[in-house]
Amino acid sequence: MEAYRELYRRAEENPEAFWSEQATNEIHWFEKWNHPFEWNPPFVKWFVGGKTNAAYNCLDRHLATRGDKAAIIFEGEPGDQRVITYRELHRLVCRFTNVLKARGCQPGDRAMIYMPMVPEAVVAMLACARLGVTHSVVFGGFSAEALKARIHDLDARIVLTADGGWRRGKEVRLKDAVDEAVKDCPGVKDVIVYQRTAQPLFMTEGRDHWWHDLDLGVSDECPAEQLDSEHPLFVLYTSGTTGKPKGILHTTGGYLTYVTSTMKWVFDLKEDDVYWCTADIGWVTGHSYLVYGPLSAGATCMIYEGSPDYPAWDRWWDVIARHKVSILYTSPTAIRALIKQGEELPNSHDLSSLRLLGSVGEPINPAAWEWYHRVIGKDRCPIVDTWWQTETGGIMIAPMPGAIPLKPGSGTLPMPGILTEVVDFEGKPRGHQRRGFPHHQAPWPGMIRTIWGDPERFQQQYFSRMPGVYFTGDAARCDEDGYLWILGRVDDVMNVSGHRLSTMEVESALVSHPAVAEAAVVGKPHEITGQAICCFVTLKQGNWDHHQLGQDLRKWVAHEIGAFARPDEIRFTEALPKTRSGKIMRRLLREIVTSHTVSGDVTTLEDLGVVNKLATQHDED
Ligand code: WT7
Repeated sequence: MEAYRELYRRAEENPEAFWSEQATNEIHWFEKWNHPFEWNPPFVKWFVGGKTNAAYNCLDRHLATRGDKAAIIFEGEPGDQRVITYRELHRLVCRFTNVLKARGCQPGDRAMIYMPMVPEAVVAMLACARLGVTHSVVFGGFSAEALKARIHDLDARIVLTADGGWRRGKEVRLKDAVDEAVKDCPGVKDVIVYQRTAQPLFMTEGRDHWWHDLDLGVSDECPAEQLDSEHPLFVLYTSGTTGKPKGILHTTGGYLTYVTSTMKWVFDLKEDDVYWCTADIGWVTGHSYLVYGPLSAGATCMIYEGSPDYPAWDRWWDVIARHKVSILYTSPTAIRALIKQGEELPNSHDLSSLRLLGSVGEPINPAAWEWYHRVIGKDRCPIVDTWWQTETGGIMIAPMPGAIPLKPGSGTLPMPGILTEVVDFEGKPRGHQRRGFPHHQAPWPGMIRTIWGDPERFQQQYFSRMPGVYFTGDAARCDEDGYLWILGRVDDVMNVSGHRLSTMEVESALVSHPAVAEAAVVGKPHEITGQAICCFVTLKQGNWDHHQLGQDLRKWVAHEIGAFARPDEIRFTEALPKTRSGKIMRRLLREIVTSHTVSGDVTTLEDLGVVNKLATQHDED
């Protein structure tokens, strides 16, 4: 605890010196920077004038000391296995960077990555980083529509994909979705297809190329570009409070410094650890703590392609036992789903290699924490509950294991250099135990730089409440020991299985259906997924079969956004509760799905009758 306090104090007293030291110790620079940071709220530049390369830091600098160490241990869902050393990963990345160059890609171009969880997905990311092509990974569960919108927003020139991936024994066909998306994207010149499932598919002459064909005859040598510290590394789309996803921009030097430092602090990484982050590369956790953080820190990373219940619900325990995984980083949703399968499954495998457990994505409830600690960690592994966001780039609040005493359900204390306070609407600090908003004093090196193409939305969304202070969208309270307890979102953002979705996104998908007049969407509490999507829908004139239409609408949303966004419930209603100015009162709907009653202030409500009807109505689906 003393060591943590000392580190925290140093960072607070002199952030310039503190972060300069981190950047010097943790990152290789081709050219040193002139200033640690330049802060013109809400815009920041870190390590200004410095030159570096993310792929170089994840690969080349390890070759002398860790060349033969496993960088990736891969297990496919069907059971195929590969161990890829740092030297081999470096070779694969160099070759694929040469492939990208041969297709005409240049620093500053944008590439979409839409791939299953195979090592080549990591190769694709690192090859982009090596060349200075800004990548945007789209989770394979997103639909063709979602992929298309992101290609347009970024004006991407190339799509890196695979024929498909394996999930629950079935092929998830990715290339078909790319075909559907790219039809309307004339800016996409090339589609490179990695062969994973080897099922029949259609290749468009001139546009589509097999990865293995382009790989023929390319060189193993490819020097890393010396990129500006602020060169855009990636854009990752996440849900905001409107229907349009936001492209969160992260750049190179600051991001890499932040994820490398936090990787070491939070996971207390040792040279012989086998580290397994179960997140998909399509989410920020997959970027920061499956690729850039652990590889920059020289770790051995486990990657598993498929589903935890294939062929049976003990697949993860089997993977841990066989590959001697020592650190497991996963989500409360996954833990709750595994709890349902009973203790015999984990108990029948040797989990003694585990030494540290991590949790991310949503608040972890006490029952899940206790089970994770007792059944998986056998009461000997600390649990690091890590709070952060796509926008923060890396972990903001988490215990440093061993140093900070744990309290189940709390992320404990902020990382060094992260000045956090729980405040009220006016920005005044809240007393202990009182609900408020966690604010972070900017800047820190891993923070979002802007929303791609929309700096105004960036300013408005995160920095309009108090200048220079980053607003998270969460509520929290701080206890008498200074520990932070995250209470969930305060905006119209839902958290389903740790995946972020805006209510408006689902609403716009619903109203694009010909039968729907209006829609209001809220998250309702769900035993496994944390929240589930509940939709209130009014219909256009017509004779509708509610049961059938309910099914159709759920399918429709899954098609528009992706399967993970399939609503749990569709409720048909004659009208939606609105204020006199016509704003849908989602707060009331939230109360209806949570408690089936309505309390609180309804004075601005247009028609109370609607609410009473909704509160007593039965589920139509
Ligand atoms: C939102 C950010 C961070 C990577 C995965 C999600 C919630 C995240 C925790 C946690 C309580 C958490 C917050 C946050 N959240 N981690 N440990 N305890 N809540 O990234 O999709 O950007 O979502 O996830 O509500 O605002 P994201």
